[in-house]
Amino acid sequence: MEDHSTFPRIFSMFFITTVAFFATSVLSIGINYGQIANNLPSPDDAVALVKCVGATKVKLYDADPRVLKAFANTGVEVMVGLGNEYLSRMKDPTKAQAWIKANLQPYLPATKITSIFVGNEVLTFNDTSLTSNLLPAMQSVHTALLNLALDKQITVTTTHSLAVLQTSYPPSAGAFRTDLAPCLAPILSFQAKTGSPFLINAYPYFAYKANPKQVPLDFVLFQPNQGMVDPSSNLHYDNMLFAQIDAVYSALTSLGYGKLPVHISETGWPSKGDEDEAGANLENAKKYNGNLIKMAMSSSKKGTPSRPNTDLNIYVFALFNENMKPGPTSERNYGLFKPDGTPAYPLGFSLASAPNDAVSNSTGAGTPPRPPTSSTGYLSISSAPSLERRWLSSVVALMVGLILKF
Ligand SMILES: *[C@@H]1O[C@H](CO)[C@@H](O)[C@H](O)[C@H]1NC(C)=O
Ligand SMILES: *[C@@H]1O[C@H](CO)[C@@H](O)[C@H](O)[C@H]1NC(C)=O
Repeated sequence: MEDHSTFPRIFSMFFITTVAFFATSVLSIGINYGQIANNLPSPDDAVALVKCVGATKVKLYDADPRVLKAFANTGVEVMVGLGNEYLSRMKDPTKAQAWIKANLQPYLPATKITSIFVGNEVLTFNDTSLTSNLLPAMQSVHTALLNLALDKQITVTTTHSLAVLQTSYPPSAGAFRTDLAPCLAPILSFQAKTGSPFLINAYPYFAYKANPKQVPLDFVLFQPNQGMVDPSSNLHYDNMLFAQIDAVYSALTSLGYGKLPVHISETGWPSKGDEDEAGANLENAKKYNGNLIKMAMSSSKKGTPSRPNTDLNIYVFALFNENMKPGPTSERNYGLFKPDGTPAYPLGFSLASAPNDAVSNSTGAGTPPRPPTSSTGYLSISSAPSLERRWLSSVVALMVGLILKF
């Protein structure tokens, strides 16, 4: 492949990418597409970037019509969000149904909407009225989907922060906060009945930031390390994310819902932080997200130690740095991409050379592709004629894919 000129290579990679895209639905990674920013590229360009990291699933925090339209006919699975401010309205089934008809139905089936998360980390706020609206809102959204005959294709769930756990270490001792159990149990029962996964936002970064002297960096960054053995289960853990996921499985088991699949609705690492934010830097972000995506795409690591045969379902946080997020500097620097569409840092692999069994050997998998010959490799498409935009987006995605390697 090295001997070919740039264009045939781009086209062959387009083919490879397409093959990999369809052949690896099981080995997949999702990505969060947040938009708390005033400088982000168009949704069409975002689609190209989503594909360029090899993501087959995207999680939105709303149901932005421009975004839903952009993902039409891409095959990318879309999870939409109903923010906490919607809960009191959505517990009314009539209003839930009206919302779905107006905001989701017009984009189906071209846009593959597969899930709605109702409320984001609601239980962490200790807000009794918000908490009491959570299950009713989830139920009426599900009922509305049922009435519209969409319940088979769209599941209803909610996201939790890891702070719903009282105990997370060792993983086998994982337990929910005791005060949350009475409200969690009926939610879990609803999810078990309707077949939706338990979503957790898990950030080993927070554990490291809180305790940089004690938490081994290699253990949180998926780097080679001796790991830890859970004294009660005897299971060996070589990374903190798996320990956190298994702590959630233990907590679910103790409430009688150990069979609910746990999906990681957010995880990531900031590439920049304030002086007091230990570990928030480019090098660590590159290791965390690069290793995470490689692992999710590799068939050798299927599940966690306590659920070795359950697929990991991970949504990386996030697609873009979001300049209008409040809080410490790290909050605005979780993106894999800068607002101009260039990578925030190289991830250490490209899609075509990612360890991925579906990529055939003739592609030169394992042989790092060369960077494009142009100066930066990034093709600005903001001024491209609209007819060519989609095609160009694909090419840009591939070129960025090449850049990610270096
Ligand atoms: C919510 O309540 C729990 C248990 O009482 C407490 O540990 C936690 O800090 C509270 N969280 C907030 C955000 O107030
Ligand atoms: C592809 O390459 C891998 C490792 O380099 C090798 O084990 C495998 O047999 C090859 N597969 C084919 C179809 O050549």
